[in-house]
Amino acid sequence: MADVLSPPPVLRLRVQDTVREADGVLGLLLEDSRGARLPAWEPGAHLEVRLPSGRVRHYSLCGDPGDRRTYRLGVLRDPGGRGGSEEIHTSVLAGRLLDVRGPVNRFPLVPAERYAFIAGGIGITPLLPMVREAAAGRSAWSLLYGGRTLTSMAYRDELAALGGGNVVLAPEDTHGPLDIDSVLRGLPDTAAVYCCGPAGLIAAVESRCAALFPARAPHVERFTAAPASVPADLGSGSGSGPDEAGFEVELRRSGAVLHVPPGRTLLDVVREALPSVPSSCEQGICGTCETKVLAGVPDHRDSVLSEAEKAAGNTMMICVGRSKGSRLVLDL
Ligand code: FES
Repeated sequence: MADVLSPPPVLRLRVQDTVREADGVLGLLLEDSRGARLPAWEPGAHLEVRLPSGRVRHYSLCGDPGDRRTYRLGVLRDPGGRGGSEEIHTSVLAGRLLDVRGPVNRFPLVPAERYAFIAGGIGITPLLPMVREAAAGRSAWSLLYGGRTLTSMAYRDELAALGGGNVVLAPEDTHGPLDIDSVLRGLPDTAAVYCCGPAGLIAAVESRCAALFPARAPHVERFTAAPASVPADLGSGSGSGPDEAGFEVELRRSGAVLHVPPGRTLLDVVREALPSVPSSCEQGICGTCETKVLAGVPDHRDSVLSEAEKAAGNTMMICVGRSKGSRLVLDL
C-alpha cells in the first residue's frame, strides 16, 4: 500500500460490472485492464477515482482484501451532491476504463481485543472489510448499522453471513435515531470504536466517547469536511474571516518564500511556485496534499490527521491548514 506522503500509483482499471446493492447504492466492480493482480489493500483503504467527466472522487474499498482480481466500491446516489455520484448512477460505466489512484489507507484497523463498529448509511463501506477481518480473527466485535430505511442499507446479506448475531440493523423509519450508548456503555478499555457515516452521527459518537471514555477517541472517517475544518470564506477562495491572519511560507527545497494573505489558501499560494503540487478534495478529507512541516506551528483544519498527529505537527494538509505563527517552513 502506498505511503501517505508518496503519491500512490495510478492504475488503469476497467469497470467489470455495476451492481445494485440497495436503494440508491450502486456497486462498482473494477479489474485491471490487462488482467493483472491488483495492489494489496487493508480494511479502511480507499481509491481516488477519475470519472469520465474528469471529476475526481474518493471511495472506500468494500470488497474482500483477499480478492486480488477485483476491487469493489459502493456509491450512494446524492442528488444534492457535487455531481460525482449522479454521474456514476446515471452513466453506463460497465466496460469503461477509469484512472484510479491508490489504494491509500487513512482509516486503518488497529489491533484490539474488541471492536464496536457504528455505521450510518453508506458509511458501512469502509467498515464492512473491517467486520470481515474481525469476524475471521479472535477479536469480539459488534456492528450497529443505521440507515433511512432497511432497503437503503447495503450489504445486509453479507453482514448476516459474517455473524448476524453481532449485527444490529436499525433503520431510522422503524427504529428512530441510532442508540449509540447501547453500544458504548460497558465497553472495556481495550475496545476500539470505529464510526463512519453522516457528520451528525460522527459528532454524536465523538461526543459520547468523550463523555464515557475521556482517554480514548473513536476512529472515524468523514465523507465531508468537519463543520469547523473549512471556513466558508476559505472554501470559496474569497473574503476572510475575522480571525484570519496572513503569514509567510518558505518552500525549503524550492527556495521560494511566499506570503499567504487572509482569504487565500496555503495550497493556492504554493501553486504559484509549484503548479503541480498534488491535491484532490481540497476540503481536508482525502490526505492527498499532506506535506511535511520543517518549522513553524501548523493551524490544522483537516479531518485526516488524528489529534496526536496534529499535536506533533510533523505534517499538514495544505489545502485547508494555515499557520499559527508568522512563518511556516514546508518540505516542498
Ligand atoms: Fe484532500 Fe488536501 S487535497 S486533504
